[in-house]
Amino acid sequence: MIQATIQKALIEQLNREFHSAYIYLGMSAYCSKEGFNGASNWFLVQYQEEIAHGMKLFKYLEDQSVELQLPAIEAVAVEFDSLLNVFEKSLAHEQFMTQNLNDISDIAMKEKDHATYNLLQWYVTEQVEEEATVSEIIDHIKLVGDNGYGLYTIDKELATRTFVDPTSKA
Ligand code: FEO
Repeated sequence: MIQATIQKALIEQLNREFHSAYIYLGMSAYCSKEGFNGASNWFLVQYQEEIAHGMKLFKYLEDQSVELQLPAIEAVAVEFDSLLNVFEKSLAHEQFMTQNLNDISDIAMKEKDHATYNLLQWYVTEQVEEEATVSEIIDHIKLVGDNGYGLYTIDKELATRTFVDPTSKA
């Protein structure tokens, strides 16, 4: 059985993971509308990853017999300023997620909840990869600036992303 403070924090994190999925669905819709079909695909895969993150946490809460609450998922943006802006918003969101996961890890460590701490380290490691991937895309977009062919090439590259269940990683 896990402590009430940690239960509350994990249920909030569960909501944030599904909210993240919804955020990326909004970003995918924006990219599709703007003709960036590769970026739209990229965010759709990101959406699937967030669902997988949410489901891993859902399963953990069930295994720990936590009485689940599933609060409403907040509405998300579907309008952005540019391809660069949408990826910058994505990076800012991932940094926010990392901060939350670090904060919950601190609570788990303080409460000597090793099982939850161990679970959270999987998420913390996943965040390093997520932030690095988005940062690299931002760098590439900045590099080409407004060059149409450059943006077309980046979009083509983003089209190649396929979903690999992140929870199948150790
Ligand atoms: Fe589940 Fe991208 O954080």
